[in-house]
Amino acid sequence: MLILGIESSCDDAAAAVVDLSGPARATVRSSAVANQDDIHRAYGGVVPELASRNHVVTIVPVINRALENADVSLQAIEGIAVTRGPGLVGSLLVGLMCAKGIAQATGLPMVGVNHIEGHLLAPLIENEIAMPYLALVVSGGHTALFVVENLGQYRRIGSTRDDAAGEAFDKVAKLMGLGYPGGKVIDELSRSGNPKRVRIPRARVKGAPLDFSFSGVKTAVATLLRTQDGQMVQPEDLAASFQEAIVDMLIAPTLAAARKLDIQTMAITGGVAANSRLRDRLSNAAADEGLRVVAPALKYCTDNAAMIAVAGGWRLMRGERDDLSIDAEANLAL
Ligand code: KG4
Ligand code: ZN
Repeated sequence: MLILGIESSCDDAAAAVVDLSGPARATVRSSAVANQDDIHRAYGGVVPELASRNHVVTIVPVINRALENADVSLQAIEGIAVTRGPGLVGSLLVGLMCAKGIAQATGLPMVGVNHIEGHLLAPLIENEIAMPYLALVVSGGHTALFVVENLGQYRRIGSTRDDAAGEAFDKVAKLMGLGYPGGKVIDELSRSGNPKRVRIPRARVKGAPLDFSFSGVKTAVATLLRTQDGQMVQPEDLAASFQEAIVDMLIAPTLAAARKLDIQTMAITGGVAANSRLRDRLSNAAADEGLRVVAPALKYCTDNAAMIAVAGGWRLMRGERDDLSIDAEANLAL
């Protein structure tokens, strides 16, 4: 079944054409993204009003680009999967209204998709994974551990108590004057830094070993930067030390959950899953314990519409449909 995926939950407008030959068997024919980093950089974070206004301009061209790159016309598409939440409501509305317009004009079936379900199933693109698997969702808006029991059956077993990991990367990059978005810059800068140069305390949530907390790390960096000693530290050493702390705090609960639940496969997904240190450290730790790590290609870690097409596609294959009355939901639960 040929699915058109549409995603606009935050600052990326994306469209993809995905061929589903079975519920969890996907071939991505194209995945196009209109990125807005240049627009939000000046503000050091996503400005919701600017994000939605720009989606209005880019959503149709990005859909056309996905169709062209897949070398198919709209007539060949058999179903539409579109993100309906969670996310910025103004941003979500643009993709959702566009999907409804196409569905109305063509008569194609449409389903609304939870953005987190997209991230949870992104590891299935290009990988064969037996269920259940553990999924660490780490992005700018979310940090949580899930057990993917089956398609449509997801159990959240751990969450951040404060900031998301990507948010911590972005805020620390801003404090250090490194620009936006921060994760990629810190990742690159850290390669030449010493992760042991600055002592950064690792936070653990008392009585909840599978939960995360990142606000203390961010505060530690902010406090250090206000001191003379902090001013003397090389940026690459501070970046590497901060990144190492975040990676430690992501890996510990993930391995603990795999051991506790006796799950052999751990998948990392979401923008922070692009982090090279996280990928390396988790792979090494997993190898030591005989576990498997699946990390999607970078383009499927950050926001994209291929994962939305996969998450909506298996529902469309089962005959599920949403009607034109569905709404965007900023806090849509999984
Ligand atoms: O999944 P995503 O594209 O959007 C959300 O749903 O949030 O994730 C974006 C987040 C940003 O916070 C960005 O700084 C972070 O992912 N990120 C990274 C890296 N690349 C992107 N964080 C750490 N290391 C990276 N290489
Ligand atoms: Zn996301």
